[in-house]
Amino acid sequence: MTLTDATPGRDAAATPDSAARRATSRTVLMCRPDHFTVSYRINPWMHPQEPTDTGRAVRQWESLYETYLALGIAVEVIDPVESLPDMVYAANGGFVLDGVAYGALFAHEERAAEGPAYMRWFEQAGYTVHQPHHVNEGEGDFLLAGQSILAGYGFRSDRASHRELADIFGREVVGLELVDPRFYHLDTALAVLDPEPAEGAVPTIAYLPAAFSEQSRLELERRYPDAIRVAESDAVVLGLNCFSDGASVVIAERARGFARQLTERGYTPVGVELDELLRGGGGVKCCTLELRR
Ligand code: ARG
Repeated sequence: MTLTDATPGRDAAATPDSAARRATSRTVLMCRPDHFTVSYRINPWMHPQEPTDTGRAVRQWESLYETYLALGIAVEVIDPVESLPDMVYAANGGFVLDGVAYGALFAHEERAAEGPAYMRWFEQAGYTVHQPHHVNEGEGDFLLAGQSILAGYGFRSDRASHRELADIFGREVVGLELVDPRFYHLDTALAVLDPEPAEGAVPTIAYLPAAFSEQSRLELERRYPDAIRVAESDAVVLGLNCFSDGASVVIAERARGFARQLTERGYTPVGVELDELLRGGGGVKCCTLELRR
């Protein structure tokens, strides 16, 4: 029997894309927002004069945590520190690949102490740690895409940290300039949907073109001609700030257009509501740091 006369089976109704979607095994680090509040303003989403509801933030965070467990994603947790209300955004705690952790050096004084707190956790968990010498906010700005690392700059991470990253991990680092203050970290403007693309294959990514400088936009078009271009209305609810295991994509429930685009490409969007944490300027991915042994 040739492949073309295969009888209709489980995948008969699926798009050609979805046949290829495969969940990979992931491990992430999260931090419970026990001390979450908005007491300072370091991005345009934050309004310290408006009250926050920490209990609600915790409940929403727990629903994200449970969602991950239900998808078979392993979750480790780091103890929150009382004086660090933004510590819930674990993505900024560092960048971890091949069992090596490159620590964060925060752009703003308010978050500075998170760097060493995450570093201690990496050390105790058995990772080889590299102290950062240049300002960088970890996986907030660095996203692994196949063999390359996409690296944002313009608001938080310094370009010099890109060189440090390339030296430590021996990977190609692709600098991408962010230009819209609402999308101040790369993970608010771009998502990598295939954590482990087949050898030689280009991973599927999704992004908001307007968040990037023209040169970076051209670079993205050249490298990812099949990327999902997301509408601003989905990006402003931090829809791109999502986490994919290669098949299921955990996203902000309100990013409905993006959810449809994901379905068309054979992914399964899994919506969660994190609007309380959005008041700090973060969503699903911000609360999630990938651990790659
Ligand atoms: N309030 C935090 C900040 O401005 C939010 C961080 C969001 N994290 C992220 N990975 N985008 O630094």
